[in-house]
Amino acid sequence: MASFQTMENEWVSDCPLCGVPPRPIMTLGHQPLAQDLLPPDSAAGCVRFELLPQVCLSCGLAQIAYRPPSTTVFGETYPYRSGVSRTMRDHLRSLADHCLELVAGKPDPFLLEIGCNDGTLSRHFARRGLRHLGIDPARRAIEQAAANGVSVLNAEFNARTGPSILVDHGKADVIVAANVIAHISNLRETLEQVHACLAADGSFVFEAISLFDLMRRGAFDLFYDEHIYTFSATAVDALAGLFGLELVDCIPIASQGGSLRYSLARPGARSCSPRVGEALRKERACGILDARAWDDFAVVATRSARALRQTVDRLRRAGCSVAGYGATAKSSVALTFAELGREQVDCIFDTTPEKVGLVSPCDRIPIRFPTPNLIEQYDYLILFAWNFLPEIEAREAGFRAKGGKWITYHGSVCIA
Ligand code: TYD
Repeated sequence: MASFQTMENEWVSDCPLCGVPPRPIMTLGHQPLAQDLLPPDSAAGCVRFELLPQVCLSCGLAQIAYRPPSTTVFGETYPYRSGVSRTMRDHLRSLADHCLELVAGKPDPFLLEIGCNDGTLSRHFARRGLRHLGIDPARRAIEQAAANGVSVLNAEFNARTGPSILVDHGKADVIVAANVIAHISNLRETLEQVHACLAADGSFVFEAISLFDLMRRGAFDLFYDEHIYTFSATAVDALAGLFGLELVDCIPIASQGGSLRYSLARPGARSCSPRVGEALRKERACGILDARAWDDFAVVATRSARALRQTVDRLRRAGCSVAGYGATAKSSVALTFAELGREQVDCIFDTTPEKVGLVSPCDRIPIRFPTPNLIEQYDYLILFAWNFLPEIEAREAGFRAKGGKWITYHGSVCIA
């Protein structure tokens, strides 16, 4: 492995909900910041940190043990954009509809979105002329949100901004966050501010990757620096209770290979869906609180990463061309853990304008736009954006028609 510096990180020793030490799941090696994409001529060195997911066997909250500072991860150049895929745009529209149902009939409701990114969700509130605010620390993303007509605040949601939002806008009828709460290190501060900003009959709706689905799928690449926490319904139930709220619903959704849309309200304010009890039972049965089940997960993840490396080596030896598809955070984890670099993977294709022309962290694999001409030159593409499989297969139908094959790697390596 290339030489690297180790990042100064916060080391987390206790579960923020239970106060007990979590159990390490596995080490995913020394990883760069997963979305630290660089210009090809950048002189920046390679900085890594140990990616060590761990899980609290009391409450089912997973977290990474070493945390890079949030300003490093979600800085000015943070390249993720919610609106880049049709799947995500459609999904965020359905989340917006869900929020709109919750405020239906309320006079002059106020909707607050934590982590609004490019405004793909909040623009549905803006278009209806509803009072709303999107808050996000990523400056370039939030400039796009403002251009989408969204009222924005370029800041983190915390003990400083929460009270000023309250003064400027009053209590929120809905506080919504899509794949954001898991990114915020200080869960206590966030939940205290949610509690303070939420109207008496308001709903706090957030979506997060489901630890149950991650475990069942063997999706080790969903653990990365941005995902400080991975929630289970069991953990959110405990979290709600700790902060004077109640978990009233958790709806399974397809995002990121399986997520849950949680609804929290003040105790007694909303009736509780039977889905909550079902999710809690299912998680217990699959071993989310069982050390042996996590040992099995680690064995399968290690085996599948090794098999991915062996498969690519075998294909290259046979003279085949191999590239990646989706310059995702997941790609960075999978490539690093499988010890795949520029010698094995020529380039990574991605449609995000902010990513094209840059190179992957540390290994500096070029990121290219998937024009039919370029992509159809390849024999094999490793699918790192596996969560968008149907949309990508449809977009890149020409690749398969020309005899190209996709490689996937969860649980075992599949070539299809
Ligand atoms: P995502 O899975 O949200 O990334 P992360 O692991 O960082 O959370 O990102 C999907 C990526 O896939 C995004 O960079 C855009 C890219 N993409 C394509 O290149 N082509 C496509 O057809 C689709 C749907 C996505």
